[in-house]
Amino acid sequence: MAIETTLSIIKPDAVERNLIGKIISRFEEDGLRPVAIRRQHLSRAEAEGFYAVHKERPFFGELVEFMTRSPVVIMALRGEDAVAKNREIMGATNPAQAADGTIRKLYANSIGENSVHGSDSVENAAIEVAYFFRTTEIAD
Ligand code: CMP
Repeated sequence: MAIETTLSIIKPDAVERNLIGKIISRFEEDGLRPVAIRRQHLSRAEAEGFYAVHKERPFFGELVEFMTRSPVVIMALRGEDAVAKNREIMGATNPAQAADGTIRKLYANSIGENSVHGSDSVENAAIEVAYFFRTTEIAD
């Protein structure tokens, strides 16, 4: 076990429904602390850059439209095994397959509007945190 930092985004569907507090509580209850946090309305260029690995996927246009629809809350979460723990707390990408008690089971509307994003590996977590936060914006 190691202390890791991962990127979490509370997506437009959840921010629009005033679920920011409930979602952050779930992370805090399970030992993940926000060490950086910002509410931001992503530009098209920011969303396209963030999801560049998906740009050949058929859902890319829909994904960028959705992520730029209204503000998101972007966080760096820190704790023991933060990358895997965040994914466990979020649940499966498709809410129909998400386990009981996970954020996506509780709140997600669909595979596209699935309330939260979380980095999928330690390597990508470092890239994604650096995409949105300078080191001086992260306070342990
Ligand atoms: P996220 O973890 O943010 O990473 C990529 C996102 O693409 C994913 O969550 C989903 O919201 C979205 N996504 C994945 N599959 C589909 C799909 N079949 N249709 C629409 N969006 C999808």
